[in-house]
Amino acid sequence: MNLETFKFEIDGDGIALATFDVPGRSMNTLTGQVVQDIVALAAEVASNDEIKGLVITSGKPSGFCAGADLGEMNQSAGGGAAQDEDEQTKLKKLFDRSFVLNKTFRELETCGKPVAAAINGLALGGGLELALACHYRVAANDNPKLQLGLPEAKIGLLPGAGGTQRLPRLIGLMAASQYILEGKSMKADEALGLGVVNELAPTSELVEKAKAWAKANPNAKAPWDEKGFKFPGGVPNQHPKATQISTMGNAMISSKTYGNYPAQTNILKCLYEGSQVPIDAGLRIETRYFIDTQQRPEAKGMIRSLFVSMQELSKGASRPAAPAKYEVKKAAVLGAGLMGAGIAHVQAMAGIETVLLDISQESAEKGKAYSKRILDKQVSRGKMSQEKADGILSLITPSTDYSQIKGADIVVEAVFEDTELKAKVTKMAEEHLADTAVMGSNTSTLPITGLAEASVRPENYIGVHFFSPVERMGLVEIILGDKTTEETLAKTIDYVLKIRKTPIVVNDFRGFYTSRCFGTYTQEGMEMLMEGIKPAIIENVGRQCGMPMGPLEVSDSVGLDTALKIGRQYAKAAGVDANEQPSSQFLAWLVEDKGRVGRKAGKGYYEYGDNGKPTRLWPDLSDKLEVKVDECPPELKEELTKRFLFRQCIEVARCFEEGVITDARDADIGSILAWGFAPYTGGCASYMDLKWGIKAFVAEADRLADAHGERFRPNAMLREMAEKGETFYSRFPPAKQEKAAA
Ligand code: NAI
Repeated sequence: MNLETFKFEIDGDGIALATFDVPGRSMNTLTGQVVQDIVALAAEVASNDEIKGLVITSGKPSGFCAGADLGEMNQSAGGGAAQDEDEQTKLKKLFDRSFVLNKTFRELETCGKPVAAAINGLALGGGLELALACHYRVAANDNPKLQLGLPEAKIGLLPGAGGTQRLPRLIGLMAASQYILEGKSMKADEALGLGVVNELAPTSELVEKAKAWAKANPNAKAPWDEKGFKFPGGVPNQHPKATQISTMGNAMISSKTYGNYPAQTNILKCLYEGSQVPIDAGLRIETRYFIDTQQRPEAKGMIRSLFVSMQELSKGASRPAAPAKYEVKKAAVLGAGLMGAGIAHVQAMAGIETVLLDISQESAEKGKAYSKRILDKQVSRGKMSQEKADGILSLITPSTDYSQIKGADIVVEAVFEDTELKAKVTKMAEEHLADTAVMGSNTSTLPITGLAEASVRPENYIGVHFFSPVERMGLVEIILGDKTTEETLAKTIDYVLKIRKTPIVVNDFRGFYTSRCFGTYTQEGMEMLMEGIKPAIIENVGRQCGMPMGPLEVSDSVGLDTALKIGRQYAKAAGVDANEQPSSQFLAWLVEDKGRVGRKAGKGYYEYGDNGKPTRLWPDLSDKLEVKVDECPPELKEELTKRFLFRQCIEVARCFEEGVITDARDADIGSILAWGFAPYTGGCASYMDLKWGIKAFVAEADRLADAHGERFRPNAMLREMAEKGETFYSRFPPAKQEKAAA
């Protein structure tokens, strides 16, 4: 037998040892080749009389197996069927292809010989499913990184190699549903307690223990192949508690996903329907739902963005290749306010010596105290030792003395949003900076090229746009000024990766990418309000279409005074009298007459409790609003959903046309991480590409424009893409990034 991804040997007692070890990879994943090898392995074990039992282990110190190869799955998504095949033939082929692992694992499980898994570390997704198809599992008790779990749901998939059938048969439907629906993983002790593994042992003894079990249990069978097998905790329709999975389970999932995540719905179906039939039928049911899930735009978008692109960008895929890696050891932050304090904290967390400057020592100390509060919380929760926290805090030096900047590899300016002030502090900082150091600005709105005019080295000047709260938000939007060099971009990406954030790279236009597109969501909410749609309907549909908050709640968080100011600025720029605009009049009434400026004042569109959380929409909103629509039938919900999502996507398309963004991955990841664009879509570009296809998207946007206004009208680029049959991923593939930075 010739296996590429397993080493295979048979000992003197006839116990075979298959050591999973994909060549050239640090971790095993289930590639096409691995699947072929597992098929051959199962056939050999079943047919070779010399083999009395099998132990499967891993040759990778990092773990057992991380699951399906999602990169491979992403590339082959949707492919494989010939054009002229009819639907039935296509489906049959798809089923056979998708059923291979289920069929093979089942053959292994019923081969009449004992099969054990020796799990040394991570066993996730298909990795755990392989282990679950073994009769016995021994896991390492000396590897703190060991995790077992079925995380498929997190990227829009469901476990398709028996996970939805074996885990509930092992630990009961209720327990299994939590792990599968939420994609939660478990540590070794928890897995032993639940019965997911049978035994724990030190790594060095795993294989020995597994072999000993195989020798002692020549007639091993899976519990579900024993006569009279019953699900632990029973099954729906027979046991009241288990019936909750199909009643409460549905309601709970709907309340969390609003029906936007087909994977969760299909997982519940697998659990319920699979529990009503023997395992062989259950496995076929699982494969059918797996195919249904995998074929949907949600799974394709989520795998591509939340897994593949996220990994690529987080490893620096947009970094120009040429300059050597830039090691940021010391950094300075100008301004110790909300943002500066957060930036100093994440720098210190990454081991960077940080000077935190403000106009008074007191303000600078206040910035450092922010970091202390976060670290104290970690210590009190047992997540960090006091010693480690002290070490991190000691890296931050609060100061008013700009000469302390000397030796910094990067400066991030986060003073008030004021061009003159930013120019002044840039000059002050550069007096102490080396020629090679990067000068970055965290401005959220001011064009970088303009700010760079104050710099003696505009080629080293760059936008480094963080999001609030810095310690929790994973994205940094890097903005290239006209003179920013490739070297500065590379250095900045190295810095962003060091502080463990995901960078996207955009060009310098007002509002850059994220602030500009995000604003369209709240603006559309305002349009609806002005049309007389009941505020609660607007908020509910906003959340139900997958946004993290309703548009009015978001506006409260940003500040209604800011919204009013921006609205007036825009009106002025467009030569319109803001006081004539109903939306400005309404905001002015809220902010200036009623003092309702949003969350920071404890009153805005919402009322707020002592904990700062919204309690209810302010009932007197309707004093000023004539509510004309106070019911939301399904067709209205659908229309409002489209208005919210299309409005944002149209702006994203404009950003592509104007050259603000140049890489489809940046658009998707930026939209999800910066402003929470419905993650089930895979991001704005994927929503247009996958959910609609550009041709249909353009037609629908035209309809929306005719019905609601020109803001929905597709731009010329979208029309051209529709005509040529292009997608954002074909027109703006990753390679374009480097050209933009050049
Ligand atoms: P903030 O008002 O909380 O802090 C600004 C800090 O700068 C204050 O502590 C102030 O004392 C200090 N400062 C003023 N003059 C200074 C000087 N000459 N030298 C040193 N420090 C000086 O403001 P925030 O919210 O932290 O914003 C800072 C920057 O970050 C702005 O450009 C803002 O547009 C941008 N930004 C803000 C975000 C937010 O959510 N607040 C998000 C992303 C960017």
